[in-house]
Amino acid sequence: MKFKKQIALAAAVTVISSAFLAGCDENKKQTTPAESQSPTASVKSASDMKWWQKTVVYEAYPNSFKDTDGDGYGDLKGLTSELDHLKELGVGAVWITPFFESPMKDNGYDVADYRKVNPRYGTDEDLDNLFSEANKRGIKLVLDLVTNHTSEECEWFKESRSGKDNDKSDYYIWADPAEDGSAPNNWRSIFGGSAWTYDETRKQYYLHTFGDFQPDLNWANPKVRQEIYDVANYWADKGAGGFRLDAIPYIKKPAEMKNGEPDQEDGTVSIHTMTVNTDGILDYLHEFKDKVSKGRDIFTVGEANGVPASELNKWVGDNGVFDMIFSFDHENVQFTGGEVWSATKDWKLTELKKTFTDSQNAIKDNGWYPMYLENHDQPRSINHFLPEGADPVLGGKALATLLMTMRGTPFMYEGEEIGMTNVDWDNIDDYNDISSKNQYQVALDKGLSREEAIKCVQKYSRDNARTPMQWNTSENAGFTTGTPWLKTNSNYKTVNVETEKSDPDSVLNFYMRLKSLRANNSVFIDGSYEEKLADSEEIFSYVRANSKDKVQVLINFTGSEVSYDTSEIDMDAAPLISNYSETEVGKLKPYEAVVVELKH
Ligand code: GLC
Repeated sequence: MKFKKQIALAAAVTVISSAFLAGCDENKKQTTPAESQSPTASVKSASDMKWWQKTVVYEAYPNSFKDTDGDGYGDLKGLTSELDHLKELGVGAVWITPFFESPMKDNGYDVADYRKVNPRYGTDEDLDNLFSEANKRGIKLVLDLVTNHTSEECEWFKESRSGKDNDKSDYYIWADPAEDGSAPNNWRSIFGGSAWTYDETRKQYYLHTFGDFQPDLNWANPKVRQEIYDVANYWADKGAGGFRLDAIPYIKKPAEMKNGEPDQEDGTVSIHTMTVNTDGILDYLHEFKDKVSKGRDIFTVGEANGVPASELNKWVGDNGVFDMIFSFDHENVQFTGGEVWSATKDWKLTELKKTFTDSQNAIKDNGWYPMYLENHDQPRSINHFLPEGADPVLGGKALATLLMTMRGTPFMYEGEEIGMTNVDWDNIDDYNDISSKNQYQVALDKGLSREEAIKCVQKYSRDNARTPMQWNTSENAGFTTGTPWLKTNSNYKTVNVETEKSDPDSVLNFYMRLKSLRANNSVFIDGSYEEKLADSEEIFSYVRANSKDKVQVLINFTGSEVSYDTSEIDMDAAPLISNYSETEVGKLKPYEAVVVELKH
C-alpha cells in the first residue's frame, strides 16, 4: 500500500504545524507552541528551551580537520576556513578537542599548558580569529577541559615530582611503594599496564588513569580545584560557549586505594572499576557548577563512562551538575568485559535500543540528552551499528535519521555528515592511536594470532574516526598539501564534501534535509520520546509528540525487508522524510528510515 502523498524530496521540507528555526539565534523563533498538554510530552516547549537544546553541535578533531600550512596536521586556520560548511549543516556550536600546548602523546589529551595554543595548531591570533569568525556566523566554540590529568610536561607536575615539600607536592596522587617495592596496588590503567609509575626523585609512585605520561590531578586538594576553575573561567571569559569535561567520572578516588578483585589473569583490575563515580564526586562537580557555569549562558557536557541511566538525574537537570552527560552504554553494547577489544559478543538490536530508551526515560521530565553515535574515540557508526556489508549510503542516512530525530541535542562528529567509514589497515604500524597499540598487545598476550589481533584493531581503533576529513577528490582528500599525519581513507574519491554537495542522493544532502526537518518542526526539539516495537530485533522505532504533532520514526537496521503495524499512521499525510524516494506503508526496505505522521 502506498501513502496517498509521497515524500517531499530534497530541498522541499515538510512542515507539520509549528515552525521555528533551531540554532543559536533566538530572535529567529517564529512560533510559540503552547505548553504541552499530553501526558507523555516533555515539560518545556521549544520556545522556553535553551539555545543549546535546539542546535546541532559538531565535534572537530583539529589534527584531522583541515591543514592550511602543509605540515600534515590540521590547524585552527583550517577550522576557520570551513565554518561556512558547518553553518550550512545547521551547526550552532563546535566542540574542538584539545588544542592546547601538549607533547601530543595522546593527541592533546595530555595538556602541558591550559592557556596556551599548541603551535602545531596556530597562534593566539588564529584562535581569536576563529572565535570572531565563528561568532559572526552565530556559532559558539565549545572547549574540551581535560582535568582528570595533565601531561607529565605540565609545570605543575614538574614541580610536584621534584620533591615532597614544594607548593605543588599534593597536586597529584602520590603513594609509597608496597613493601617489596612494587606498585601500591593492582590497578590497571585504561591504556594498559599498571596505573602507577615510579618516580626516582620522589621515591614514590604517581597514579595515572590513562597513560604513564598523564598523571592524575588530585581533586581532593582545594588548590587544584581552584586552578581548574580558574582555567575554565579564563576560557569562558574569552567567549567559550561551553565545555566538554573529559574523563570526568574518574576525578574522585576512594579514600583507601586498596587492591581490587582481579579481572584479568595477570592479577590486575581495571582502574575504571575502582574509581568510577566514587561517592562524593558530585560535591566537587557542584562546586564546578557554582564557580564556573552558574550565571553563564554556556552548556556543560561531561564525558561520563560508567554513570548508569539510574543515576542520570543526579548528574543532569535542575539539581544536577552538568547540562548533559555522554553515556557510553550504546557504544559499549558489544563488549563483554571492560572495554577489551578482543572480548566482544554479538549484540542484539533490543539491547542497543534499551540503552537509549533507559537514558531517555531517566531524563524525561528533568535533564537533557546529548545524542551521539560517533566521536574521536569510537569507530565509524556505519561499521559499528550496522551489519558488515551494509550499504554505506543507505546506512549512513538511516543513522543520520536516528541522530537527528532522537530527543536531545545531536552531536555530529566530523565526517559523519558525509558517511565516512572505518579503515582496514592490516599493519599495526599504520596506526597512531596509543590505545590501538595497547589493545593489539593485549590481544596478542591473550594468545590471539596477529591476524586476529589486527582484526580487533580494525574494528574498534580510534584511528577509524581520526583519518583526515575528506573534502574533495584531490590528493589526500583536500585535507593537506603535505603528508597527512595519518593515512587518508581510500574511499575519499566518492565520499567527500565536494562530490556529495552536487549529488542530491548523497548522505550530506540527506543531512541537509534532516536539518531543515528539525528546524521547521518543533516536535523534534520539544517532543516527548516513547519507544515503539521495543521487542523488534529489526526495527528501531519511537514516537515524538508535543501538543500539536505526533510523529513516528522507523529505522530498519537490517538488509532485509521488514513489516510493521500501520494502524496509528495518518495515511493522508506524506511521510516527512525517508532515505528512499518512495516508501510503502507497513514495509521498510533494507536500511530504510522513514518518519511518518500519526493520527491524533
Ligand atoms: C577521553 C578522551 C580520549 C582520551 C582520554 C584520556 O576519553 O576522549 O580521547 O584518550 O580521555 O584523556
